[in-house]
Amino acid sequence: MDQATDRRKLIEDVKVANDHLSDAIDNDEPIHVISHLDADGLAAAGILGGALWRRNANLHLRVQQWMDEKIVAEIQSLHPSLTVFTDMGAGYLDILSTRLPTYRIIVLDHHQKKGEVTENIVTVNPHEHGFDGSKEISGAGVTYLVAQALDSSNMDLAGLAVIGALGDQQDKFEKRSLGGLNLEIVKDAEKSGVLETCTDLQFFGRETRPIHKALAYTTTPFIPGISGEEDKSLSLLLHLNIKPKIGDRWRALRDLSSEEKRTLCSALSDHMVAKGVSEHVLNLIGRVYTLVNEEPWTPLRDAREFSVLLNSTGRMGRPSIGVAITLGDRRAAVDEASTILENYRHTITRNMNWLMEKPDRIREMRSIYLVQGEGFIDEKMIGTLASILSTTLPSWNKPIIAYAAVSEKGVVKVSARTLARMTEKGLNLGKIMGLAAKRFHGEGGGHDIAAGAQIPFSSVDDFVELVDELIYRDVSEVFAEG
Ligand code: C5P
Ligand code: C5P
Ligand code: ZN
Repeated sequence: MDQATDRRKLIEDVKVANDHLSDAIDNDEPIHVISHLDADGLAAAGILGGALWRRNANLHLRVQQWMDEKIVAEIQSLHPSLTVFTDMGAGYLDILSTRLPTYRIIVLDHHQKKGEVTENIVTVNPHEHGFDGSKEISGAGVTYLVAQALDSSNMDLAGLAVIGALGDQQDKFEKRSLGGLNLEIVKDAEKSGVLETCTDLQFFGRETRPIHKALAYTTTPFIPGISGEEDKSLSLLLHLNIKPKIGDRWRALRDLSSEEKRTLCSALSDHMVAKGVSEHVLNLIGRVYTLVNEEPWTPLRDAREFSVLLNSTGRMGRPSIGVAITLGDRRAAVDEASTILENYRHTITRNMNWLMEKPDRIREMRSIYLVQGEGFIDEKMIGTLASILSTTLPSWNKPIIAYAAVSEKGVVKVSARTLARMTEKGLNLGKIMGLAAKRFHGEGGGHDIAAGAQIPFSSVDDFVELVDELIYRDVSEVFAEG
Protein backbone atom coordinates (compact mmCIF):
# COMPACT_ATOMS: atom_id res chain seq x y z
CA MET A 1 0.00 0.00 0.00
CA ASP A 2 1.24 3.51 -0.73
CA GLN A 3 1.79 6.02 2.02
CA ALA A 4 -1.23 8.19 1.17
CA THR A 5 -3.48 5.13 1.57
CA ASP A 6 -1.78 4.19 4.85
CA ARG A 7 -2.32 7.70 6.11
CA ARG A 8 -5.97 7.69 5.03
CA LYS A 9 -6.56 4.41 6.88
CA LEU A 10 -4.96 5.79 10.01
CA ILE A 11 -7.17 8.87 9.82
CA GLU A 12 -10.23 6.63 9.40
CA ASP A 13 -9.34 5.02 12.74
CA VAL A 14 -8.87 8.48 14.24
CA LYS A 15 -12.41 9.34 13.11
CA VAL A 16 -13.88 6.23 14.72
CA ALA A 17 -12.11 7.04 18.01
CA ASN A 18 -13.34 10.62 17.73
CA ASP A 19 -16.95 9.46 17.22
CA HIS A 20 -16.85 7.40 20.42
CA LEU A 21 -15.24 10.20 22.35
CA SER A 22 -17.66 12.86 21.06
CA ASP A 23 -20.56 10.60 21.92
CA ALA A 24 -19.41 10.20 25.51
CA ILE A 25 -18.78 13.97 25.82
CA ASP A 26 -22.18 14.89 24.39
CA ASN A 27 -23.93 12.53 26.79
CA ASP A 28 -21.86 13.75 29.74
CA GLU A 29 -20.70 10.21 30.41
CA PRO A 30 -17.69 9.61 32.68
CA ILE A 31 -14.49 9.18 30.64
CA HIS A 32 -11.45 7.56 32.25
CA VAL A 33 -8.08 8.35 30.74
CA ILE A 34 -5.16 6.13 31.73
CA SER A 35 -1.77 7.24 30.45
CA HIS A 36 1.82 6.04 30.63
CA LEU A 37 4.24 7.38 33.22
CA ASP A 38 7.00 8.74 30.99
CA ALA A 39 7.30 12.09 29.20
CA ASP A 40 5.36 10.88 26.16
CA GLY A 41 2.58 9.47 28.32
CA LEU A 42 2.36 12.65 30.40
CA ALA A 43 2.27 14.79 27.23
CA ALA A 44 -0.51 12.52 25.89
CA ALA A 45 -2.42 12.99 29.17
CA GLY A 46 -2.03 16.76 28.79
CA ILE A 47 -3.32 16.68 25.21
CA LEU A 48 -6.39 14.55 25.86
CA GLY A 49 -7.00 16.16 29.27
CA GLY A 50 -6.76 19.62 27.69
CA ALA A 51 -9.03 18.74 24.76
CA LEU A 52 -11.66 17.15 27.03
CA TRP A 53 -11.45 19.95 29.57
CA ARG A 54 -12.17 22.50 26.81
CA ARG A 55 -15.34 20.53 26.12
CA ASN A 56 -16.30 20.37 29.82
CA ALA A 57 -16.15 16.58 29.67
CA ASN A 58 -16.67 14.40 32.72
CA LEU A 59 -13.02 13.40 33.02
CA HIS A 60 -10.97 11.19 35.33
CA LEU A 61 -7.24 11.04 34.62
CA ARG A 62 -4.66 8.59 35.90
CA VAL A 63 -1.00 7.80 35.19
CA GLN A 64 0.46 4.26 35.32
CA GLN A 65 3.77 2.57 34.66
CA TRP A 66 2.12 -0.56 33.32
CA MET A 67 -1.19 -2.37 33.10
CA ASP A 68 -2.01 -5.02 35.67
CA GLU A 69 -4.81 -6.68 37.62
CA LYS A 70 -5.11 -3.64 39.89
CA ILE A 71 -6.10 -1.43 36.97
CA VAL A 72 -8.49 -4.06 35.65
CA ALA A 73 -10.12 -4.24 39.09
CA GLU A 74 -10.33 -0.46 39.28
CA ILE A 75 -12.07 -0.20 35.91
CA GLN A 76 -14.44 -2.97 36.95
CA SER A 77 -15.35 -1.23 40.18
CA LEU A 78 -15.71 2.30 38.77
CA HIS A 79 -17.32 1.11 35.56
CA PRO A 80 -16.73 4.21 33.41
CA SER A 81 -18.74 4.53 30.16
CA LEU A 82 -15.52 4.94 28.25
CA THR A 83 -11.89 4.18 29.13
CA VAL A 84 -9.13 5.69 26.99
CA PHE A 85 -5.56 4.41 27.20
CA THR A 86 -2.91 6.78 25.88
CA ASP A 87 0.71 5.79 25.13
CA MET A 88 -0.07 2.33 26.51
CA GLY A 89 -2.56 -0.46 25.90
CA ALA A 90 -1.48 -1.89 22.53
CA GLY A 91 0.72 -4.39 24.38
CA TYR A 92 -2.13 -5.38 26.67
CA LEU A 93 -4.94 -6.11 24.18
CA ASP A 94 -5.18 -9.71 25.40
CA ILE A 95 -5.79 -8.56 28.99
CA LEU A 96 -8.26 -5.89 27.85
CA SER A 97 -10.24 -8.26 25.66
CA THR A 98 -10.38 -11.18 28.08
CA ARG A 99 -10.75 -9.32 31.38
CA LEU A 100 -12.88 -6.36 30.23
CA PRO A 101 -14.91 -7.74 27.30
CA THR A 102 -18.00 -5.64 27.97
CA TYR A 103 -16.27 -2.29 28.50
CA ARG A 104 -15.97 0.39 25.83
CA ILE A 105 -12.25 1.07 25.40
CA ILE A 106 -10.15 3.29 23.13
CA VAL A 107 -6.41 2.64 22.80
CA LEU A 108 -4.38 5.56 21.41
CA ASP A 109 -0.91 4.06 21.25
CA HIS A 110 2.25 3.64 19.18
CA HIS A 111 3.53 0.40 20.70
CA GLN A 112 3.58 -2.87 18.82
CA LYS A 113 0.30 -4.70 19.17
CA LYS A 114 0.05 -7.81 21.35
CA GLY A 115 -3.20 -9.76 21.26
CA GLU A 116 -6.29 -9.23 19.16
CA VAL A 117 -8.68 -6.31 19.01
CA THR A 118 -12.21 -7.32 20.03
CA GLU A 119 -15.43 -5.47 19.23
CA ASN A 120 -15.47 -3.38 22.39
CA ILE A 121 -12.00 -1.93 21.64
CA VAL A 122 -11.18 0.88 19.21
CA THR A 123 -7.49 1.39 18.47
CA VAL A 124 -5.48 4.04 16.68
CA ASN A 125 -2.03 2.59 16.06
CA PRO A 126 0.53 3.58 13.40
CA HIS A 127 1.92 0.01 13.24
CA GLU A 128 -1.44 -1.17 11.87
CA HIS A 129 -1.00 1.03 8.79
CA GLY A 130 2.62 0.67 7.80
CA PHE A 131 4.10 3.42 9.98
CA ASP A 132 6.93 2.81 12.43
CA GLY A 133 5.58 3.75 15.84
CA SER A 134 9.04 3.76 17.37
CA LYS A 135 10.15 6.78 15.35
CA GLU A 136 7.42 8.25 13.14
CA ILE A 137 4.85 9.17 15.79
CA SER A 138 4.61 8.97 19.58
CA GLY A 139 1.76 8.18 21.95
CA ALA A 140 1.23 11.92 22.40
CA GLY A 141 1.24 12.28 18.60
CA VAL A 142 -1.49 9.67 18.14
CA THR A 143 -3.49 11.35 20.91
CA TYR A 144 -2.97 14.71 19.21
CA LEU A 145 -4.50 13.37 15.96
CA VAL A 146 -7.66 12.51 17.88
CA ALA A 147 -7.70 15.84 19.78
CA GLN A 148 -7.34 17.64 16.47
CA ALA A 149 -10.26 15.67 15.00
CA LEU A 150 -12.33 16.58 18.06
CA ASP A 151 -11.82 20.29 17.43
CA SER A 152 -9.43 21.96 14.99
CA SER A 153 -8.68 24.67 17.55
CA ASN A 154 -6.75 21.98 19.46
CA MET A 155 -3.93 22.56 16.98
CA ASP A 156 -2.11 24.51 19.70
CA LEU A 157 -1.71 21.18 21.56
CA ALA A 158 0.71 20.04 18.83
CA GLY A 159 3.57 21.47 20.93
CA LEU A 160 2.88 18.81 23.56
CA ALA A 161 2.99 16.11 20.87
CA VAL A 162 6.45 17.39 19.85
CA ILE A 163 7.53 17.14 23.50
CA GLY A 164 6.20 13.56 23.67
CA ALA A 165 8.05 12.50 20.51
CA LEU A 166 11.31 14.01 21.79
CA GLY A 167 10.77 12.33 25.18
CA ASP A 168 10.56 8.99 23.37
CA GLN A 169 13.78 9.83 21.47
CA GLN A 170 12.06 9.78 18.10
CA ASP A 171 14.45 12.44 16.75
CA LYS A 172 16.10 9.76 14.62
CA PHE A 173 15.92 11.54 11.26
CA GLU A 174 18.63 13.69 9.72
CA LYS A 175 20.45 15.85 12.28
CA ARG A 176 18.34 14.67 15.19
CA SER A 177 15.13 15.90 13.64
CA LEU A 178 11.61 14.50 13.88
CA GLY A 179 10.29 12.85 10.72
CA GLY A 180 7.38 10.83 9.37
CA LEU A 181 4.00 11.74 10.86
CA ASN A 182 5.82 13.74 13.55
CA LEU A 183 6.91 16.19 10.88
CA GLU A 184 3.29 17.03 10.11
CA ILE A 185 2.72 17.62 13.81
CA VAL A 186 5.79 19.89 13.95
CA LYS A 187 4.27 21.88 11.08
CA ASP A 188 0.95 22.17 12.94
CA ALA A 189 2.81 23.43 16.01
CA GLU A 190 4.65 26.00 13.89
CA LYS A 191 1.44 27.04 12.17
CA SER A 192 -0.34 27.56 15.47
CA GLY A 193 2.54 29.77 16.63
CA VAL A 194 3.74 27.66 19.58
CA LEU A 195 6.96 26.29 18.02
CA GLU A 196 10.06 27.44 16.14
CA THR A 197 12.92 25.20 14.97
CA CYS A 198 16.59 25.67 14.02
CA THR A 199 19.82 23.59 13.88
CA ASP A 200 22.49 24.04 16.59
CA LEU A 201 24.62 22.33 19.27
CA GLN A 202 22.49 20.06 21.44
CA PHE A 203 23.56 20.92 24.96
CA PHE A 204 21.00 20.55 27.60
CA GLY A 205 19.92 23.91 28.96
CA ARG A 206 21.02 25.95 25.96
CA GLU A 207 18.84 28.83 27.10
CA THR A 208 18.94 28.40 30.83
CA ARG A 209 22.38 27.43 32.14
CA PRO A 210 26.05 28.43 32.20
CA ILE A 211 27.79 26.55 29.39
CA HIS A 212 29.80 24.21 31.62
CA LYS A 213 26.64 23.23 33.47
CA ALA A 214 24.77 22.69 30.21
CA LEU A 215 27.64 20.46 29.08
CA ALA A 216 27.59 18.50 32.31
CA TYR A 217 23.79 18.15 32.09
CA THR A 218 23.97 16.66 28.60
CA THR A 219 23.42 12.91 28.56
CA THR A 220 22.30 12.52 24.92
CA PRO A 221 24.91 12.00 23.69
CA PHE A 222 26.61 10.80 26.85
CA ILE A 223 30.11 12.34 26.82
CA PRO A 224 32.37 10.27 29.08
CA GLY A 225 34.26 12.50 31.53
CA ILE A 226 32.03 15.49 30.73
CA SER A 227 28.43 14.35 31.31
CA GLY A 228 27.74 14.79 35.01
CA GLU A 229 31.12 16.51 35.59
CA GLU A 230 30.80 20.27 35.97
CA ASP A 231 34.42 20.84 37.06
CA LYS A 232 35.83 18.97 34.09
CA SER A 233 33.45 20.77 31.73
CA LEU A 234 34.66 24.10 33.10
CA SER A 235 38.32 23.08 32.68
CA LEU A 236 37.61 22.12 29.09
CA LEU A 237 36.16 25.57 28.33
CA LEU A 238 39.16 27.29 29.91
CA HIS A 239 41.53 25.02 28.02
CA LEU A 240 39.81 26.01 24.76
CA ASN A 241 39.98 29.71 25.65
CA ILE A 242 36.21 29.99 25.71
CA LYS A 243 35.25 32.49 28.39
CA PRO A 244 32.61 30.95 30.64
CA LYS A 245 31.80 34.40 32.10
CA ILE A 246 31.68 37.98 30.96
CA GLY A 247 32.14 40.21 33.98
CA ASP A 248 30.24 38.42 36.70
CA ARG A 249 27.59 37.03 34.35
CA TRP A 250 27.82 33.41 33.22
CA ARG A 251 27.38 32.88 29.51
CA ALA A 252 24.83 30.41 28.09
CA LEU A 253 25.28 28.46 24.87
CA ARG A 254 23.21 31.01 22.97
CA ASP A 255 25.80 33.70 23.88
CA LEU A 256 28.69 31.90 22.09
CA SER A 257 29.92 33.10 18.68
CA SER A 258 29.83 30.68 15.74
CA GLU A 259 33.62 30.42 15.96
CA GLU A 260 33.49 29.45 19.64
CA LYS A 261 30.75 26.90 18.95
CA ARG A 262 32.89 25.36 16.19
CA THR A 263 35.93 25.13 18.50
CA LEU A 264 33.88 23.51 21.25
CA CYS A 265 32.18 21.07 18.91
CA SER A 266 35.41 19.90 17.35
CA ALA A 267 37.11 19.46 20.76
CA LEU A 268 34.17 17.39 21.99
CA SER A 269 34.17 15.24 18.83
CA ASP A 270 37.91 14.53 19.30
CA HIS A 271 37.30 13.70 22.94
CA MET A 272 34.44 11.32 22.12
CA VAL A 273 36.47 9.57 19.45
CA ALA A 274 39.33 9.16 21.94
CA LYS A 275 36.90 7.69 24.50
CA GLY A 276 35.61 5.15 21.97
CA VAL A 277 32.13 6.59 21.52
CA SER A 278 32.63 8.05 18.03
CA GLU A 279 29.31 6.46 17.05
CA HIS A 280 27.48 9.23 18.92
CA VAL A 281 29.51 12.27 17.79
CA LEU A 282 26.89 13.17 15.19
CA ASN A 283 24.38 13.67 17.98
CA LEU A 284 26.24 16.77 19.19
CA ILE A 285 24.55 18.89 16.53
CA GLY A 286 20.92 18.79 15.56
CA ARG A 287 17.49 20.25 15.28
CA VAL A 288 16.38 22.45 18.17
CA TYR A 289 12.68 22.77 19.01
CA THR A 290 11.78 25.98 20.84
CA LEU A 291 8.40 26.53 22.46
CA VAL A 292 8.19 30.24 21.87
CA ASN A 293 5.27 30.98 24.19
CA GLU A 294 7.16 29.64 27.21
CA GLU A 295 9.21 32.08 29.29
CA PRO A 296 12.88 32.35 28.28
CA TRP A 297 15.23 31.05 31.00
CA THR A 298 12.80 28.31 32.02
CA PRO A 299 13.19 24.56 31.37
CA LEU A 300 9.93 24.69 29.40
CA ARG A 301 11.29 26.77 26.53
CA ASP A 302 13.38 24.01 24.91
CA ALA A 303 11.10 21.09 24.02
CA ARG A 304 13.78 18.46 24.84
CA GLU A 305 14.32 20.00 28.24
CA PHE A 306 10.55 20.14 28.79
CA SER A 307 10.37 16.42 28.03
CA VAL A 308 13.09 15.64 30.58
CA LEU A 309 11.29 17.74 33.18
CA LEU A 310 8.12 15.72 32.55
CA ASN A 311 10.01 12.44 32.59
CA SER A 312 11.59 13.36 35.93
CA THR A 313 8.19 13.91 37.57
CA GLY A 314 7.01 10.48 36.44
CA ARG A 315 10.22 8.64 37.23
CA MET A 316 10.49 10.24 40.68
CA GLY A 317 6.95 9.17 41.54
CA ARG A 318 5.29 12.62 41.12
CA PRO A 319 3.46 12.31 37.78
CA SER A 320 0.59 14.56 38.91
CA ILE A 321 3.02 17.50 38.88
CA GLY A 322 3.92 16.64 35.27
CA VAL A 323 0.26 16.38 34.31
CA ALA A 324 -0.46 19.77 35.95
CA ILE A 325 2.27 21.34 33.82
CA THR A 326 0.98 19.78 30.60
CA LEU A 327 -2.46 21.11 31.50
CA GLY A 328 -1.04 24.62 31.70
CA ASP A 329 -0.03 25.21 35.36
CA ARG A 330 2.94 27.56 35.17
CA ARG A 331 3.24 28.49 38.84
CA ALA A 332 3.71 26.13 41.78
CA ALA A 333 3.89 23.01 39.63
CA VAL A 334 6.86 24.34 37.63
CA ASP A 335 8.74 25.29 40.81
CA GLU A 336 8.09 21.90 42.29
CA ALA A 337 9.11 20.15 39.06
CA SER A 338 12.42 22.04 39.06
CA THR A 339 13.22 20.60 42.50
CA ILE A 340 12.14 17.13 41.34
CA LEU A 341 14.40 17.52 38.28
CA GLU A 342 17.39 18.29 40.51
CA ASN A 343 16.72 15.15 42.56
CA TYR A 344 16.29 13.14 39.39
CA ARG A 345 19.68 14.33 38.11
CA HIS A 346 21.36 13.47 41.40
CA THR A 347 19.72 10.06 41.31
CA ILE A 348 21.03 9.45 37.77
CA THR A 349 24.57 10.51 38.75
CA ARG A 350 24.44 8.39 41.94
CA ASN A 351 23.18 5.36 40.02
CA MET A 352 25.70 5.79 37.19
CA ASN A 353 28.53 6.09 39.74
CA TRP A 354 27.32 2.95 41.48
CA LEU A 355 27.30 1.11 38.15
CA MET A 356 30.82 2.24 37.32
CA GLU A 357 32.20 1.48 40.81
CA LYS A 358 32.70 -2.23 40.10
CA PRO A 359 33.26 -3.81 36.69
CA ASP A 360 30.76 -6.64 37.23
CA ARG A 361 27.85 -4.25 37.76
CA ILE A 362 27.53 -4.14 33.97
CA ARG A 363 28.03 -7.80 33.13
CA GLU A 364 28.88 -8.76 29.57
CA MET A 365 27.13 -11.93 28.43
CA ARG A 366 27.11 -13.70 25.05
CA SER A 367 24.75 -11.24 23.34
CA ILE A 368 23.73 -8.70 25.99
CA TYR A 369 25.02 -6.45 28.74
CA LEU A 370 23.23 -7.11 32.02
CA VAL A 371 22.60 -4.68 34.89
CA GLN A 372 21.15 -6.12 38.08
CA GLY A 373 19.89 -3.07 39.89
CA GLU A 374 18.06 -4.99 42.59
CA GLY A 375 18.11 -3.20 45.89
CA PHE A 376 19.98 -0.12 44.68
CA ILE A 377 18.22 1.17 41.56
CA ASP A 378 14.59 2.21 41.78
CA GLU A 379 12.23 0.40 39.45
CA LYS A 380 10.98 3.67 37.92
CA MET A 381 14.55 4.80 37.15
CA ILE A 382 15.70 1.60 35.47
CA GLY A 383 14.36 2.62 32.03
CA THR A 384 16.10 5.99 32.10
CA LEU A 385 19.39 4.38 33.12
CA ALA A 386 19.09 1.72 30.43
CA SER A 387 18.52 4.49 27.86
CA ILE A 388 21.63 6.39 28.98
CA LEU A 389 23.76 3.24 29.20
CA SER A 390 22.77 2.13 25.70
CA THR A 391 24.82 4.98 24.24
CA THR A 392 27.94 4.30 26.31
CA LEU A 393 28.61 0.58 25.98
CA PRO A 394 31.78 -0.71 24.30
CA SER A 395 30.10 -3.21 21.93
CA TRP A 396 27.37 -1.66 19.80
CA ASN A 397 25.90 -5.06 18.99
CA LYS A 398 25.00 -6.06 22.56
CA PRO A 399 21.73 -4.60 23.84
CA ILE A 400 21.45 -3.56 27.47
CA ILE A 401 19.06 -5.48 29.69
CA ALA A 402 18.61 -3.86 33.10
CA TYR A 403 16.31 -4.77 35.92
CA ALA A 404 15.21 -3.63 39.36
CA ALA A 405 13.11 -5.32 42.01
CA VAL A 406 9.59 -4.21 42.85
CA SER A 407 9.62 -6.00 46.19
CA GLU A 408 6.06 -5.29 47.27
CA LYS A 409 4.77 -6.97 44.10
CA GLY A 410 7.29 -9.84 44.00
CA VAL A 411 8.30 -8.91 40.46
CA VAL A 412 11.22 -7.32 38.68
CA LYS A 413 10.90 -4.46 36.20
CA VAL A 414 13.08 -5.08 33.17
CA SER A 415 14.15 -2.44 30.64
CA ALA A 416 15.84 -3.30 27.36
CA ARG A 417 17.50 -0.89 24.92
CA THR A 418 19.50 -1.24 21.73
CA LEU A 419 20.80 1.01 18.94
CA ALA A 420 19.32 1.70 15.50
CA ARG A 421 22.17 -0.28 13.92
CA MET A 422 20.78 -3.40 15.57
CA THR A 423 17.10 -2.84 14.72
CA GLU A 424 18.21 -2.25 11.13
CA LYS A 425 19.68 -5.78 11.26
CA GLY A 426 16.27 -7.08 12.32
CA LEU A 427 16.49 -7.13 16.12
CA ASN A 428 13.11 -6.54 17.77
CA LEU A 429 13.42 -6.15 21.54
CA GLY A 430 9.65 -5.63 21.95
CA LYS A 431 8.92 -9.05 20.48
CA ILE A 432 11.69 -10.71 22.48
CA MET A 433 10.53 -9.15 25.77
CA GLY A 434 6.97 -10.27 25.01
CA LEU A 435 8.00 -13.82 24.17
CA ALA A 436 10.40 -14.29 27.09
CA ALA A 437 8.05 -12.71 29.64
CA LYS A 438 5.20 -14.94 28.54
CA ARG A 439 7.33 -18.02 29.17
CA PHE A 440 7.63 -16.97 32.83
CA HIS A 441 4.05 -15.73 33.32
CA GLY A 442 5.03 -12.08 33.03
CA GLU A 443 4.18 -9.25 30.65
CA GLY A 444 6.55 -7.77 28.13
CA GLY A 445 6.57 -5.68 24.98
CA GLY A 446 7.35 -2.27 23.54
CA HIS A 447 9.30 -1.07 20.52
CA ASP A 448 12.03 -2.80 18.54
CA ILE A 449 14.61 -0.37 19.96
CA ALA A 450 13.28 0.11 23.51
CA ALA A 451 11.18 -2.42 25.38
CA GLY A 452 10.38 -3.68 28.84
CA ALA A 453 8.87 -6.46 30.93
CA GLN A 454 7.58 -7.32 34.36
CA ILE A 455 8.29 -10.87 35.51
CA PRO A 456 8.16 -12.83 38.78
CA PHE A 457 11.25 -12.27 40.88
CA SER A 458 11.96 -16.00 41.13
CA SER A 459 12.32 -16.38 37.33
CA VAL A 460 14.73 -13.56 36.68
CA ASP A 461 17.89 -15.61 36.06
CA ASP A 462 16.13 -17.97 33.64
CA PHE A 463 14.49 -14.99 31.95
CA VAL A 464 17.86 -13.33 31.37
CA GLU A 465 19.33 -16.57 29.99
CA LEU A 466 16.42 -16.89 27.59
CA VAL A 467 16.68 -13.26 26.43
CA ASP A 468 20.42 -13.70 25.86
CA GLU A 469 19.64 -16.76 23.73
CA LEU A 470 16.73 -15.18 21.81
CA ILE A 471 18.78 -12.13 20.90
CA TYR A 472 21.62 -14.34 19.77
CA ARG A 473 19.25 -16.28 17.52
CA ASP A 474 17.48 -13.17 16.21
CA VAL A 475 20.63 -11.56 14.86
CA SER A 476 23.14 -14.39 14.80
CA GLU A 477 24.78 -12.99 11.67
CA VAL A 478 25.75 -9.84 13.60
CA PHE A 479 27.62 -11.93 16.14
CA ALA A 480 29.15 -14.03 13.40
CA GLU A 481 30.54 -10.79 11.90
CA GLY A 482 32.12 -10.17 15.32
O1 C5P B 1 6.27 3.94 26.37
P1 C5P B 1 7.06 4.75 25.47
O2 C5P B 1 6.98 4.42 24.04
O3 C5P B 1 6.59 6.18 25.67
O4 C5P B 1 8.55 4.77 25.93
C1 C5P B 1 9.67 4.58 25.12
C2 C5P B 1 10.85 4.69 26.03
O5 C5P B 1 12.00 4.23 25.39
C3 C5P B 1 11.14 6.14 26.44
O6 C5P B 1 11.43 6.15 27.80
C4 C5P B 1 12.36 6.52 25.60
O7 C5P B 1 13.20 7.43 26.23
C5 C5P B 1 13.04 5.18 25.42
N1 C5P B 1 13.80 5.09 24.16
C6 C5P B 1 15.18 4.88 24.20
N2 C5P B 1 15.91 4.79 23.04
C7 C5P B 1 15.31 4.92 21.86
C8 C5P B 1 13.91 5.10 21.79
C9 C5P B 1 13.18 5.18 22.97
O8 C5P B 1 15.73 4.78 25.26
N3 C5P B 1 16.04 4.87 20.77
O1 C5P C 1 9.72 0.83 31.07
P1 C5P C 1 10.64 1.11 29.94
O2 C5P C 1 10.96 2.56 29.78
O3 C5P C 1 11.85 0.27 29.91
O4 C5P C 1 9.81 0.69 28.65
C1 C5P C 1 10.35 0.73 27.36
C2 C5P C 1 9.22 0.63 26.38
O5 C5P C 1 8.58 -0.65 26.47
C3 C5P C 1 8.13 1.65 26.66
O6 C5P C 1 7.65 2.06 25.41
C4 C5P C 1 7.09 0.85 27.40
O7 C5P C 1 5.79 1.36 27.26
C5 C5P C 1 7.20 -0.51 26.73
N1 C5P C 1 6.75 -1.65 27.58
C6 C5P C 1 5.72 -2.45 27.13
N2 C5P C 1 5.29 -3.52 27.86
C7 C5P C 1 5.85 -3.80 29.06
C8 C5P C 1 6.92 -3.00 29.55
C9 C5P C 1 7.34 -1.90 28.78
O8 C5P C 1 5.17 -2.20 26.06
N3 C5P C 1 5.42 -4.85 29.73
ZN1 ZN D 1 5.50 6.58 23.91
